[in-house]
Amino acid sequence: MIPQFVLDALTYEQREHQWNQALVDGESGVFVAQSGGDVAGFACGCRNRDPDYETAYPGELQSIYLLERYQQKGLGRALFDAARTWLKAQGLVPFMLWVVTDNPACAFYERLGGTRIVTRPTDVRGANVIESGYAWR
Ligand SMILES: CC(C)(COP(=O)(O)OP(=O)(O)OC[C@H]1O[C@@H](n2cnc3c(N)ncnc32)[C@H](O)[C@@H]1OP(=O)(O)O)[C@@H](O)C(=O)NCCC(=O)NCCS
Repeated sequence: MIPQFVLDALTYEQREHQWNQALVDGESGVFVAQSGGDVAGFACGCRNRDPDYETAYPGELQSIYLLERYQQKGLGRALFDAARTWLKAQGLVPFMLWVVTDNPACAFYERLGGTRIVTRPTDVRGANVIESGYAWR
């Protein structure tokens, strides 16, 4: 869904810096799913970063990812619920998220009650992709 050159440009150091910032600035709700001793996945909620949508949807689910071997076991729903509870407690509802339109995760979001409110072309670090916005009230 994302061209390889975009993925190749990602670095561990940038991500580590980004997550350290998110964990200390107090502006994000970061949740980790654990299984045994492993980190199986994570979700992150925050204030909506898109000025075109922040008034109608003050919150955003910025990310939700599980390692493949932990998918389809209910952990995604648990992470989503934790992030949604955090967003609600911050007064950041309604909220929305962005997903590449071809991503099978769209069916997961629809299963969890999300409504597709918009589909638009966007630029992801130099790659043209089509993304969809899903919203929860
Ligand atoms: C999307 C993701 C977070 C979902 O988490 P998960 O743990 O696999 O999903 P769950 O097991 O909690 O599923 C919850 C419900 O959604 C359904 N569902 C999950 N993935 C689905 C899919 N791809 N297609 C259809 N339904 C799906 C489940 O069947 C389940 O339904 P049920 O309540 O009727 O049993 C996970 O698959 C993932 O990390 N994918 C790769 C990363 C990614 O694309 N993240 C989103 C970026 S925007």
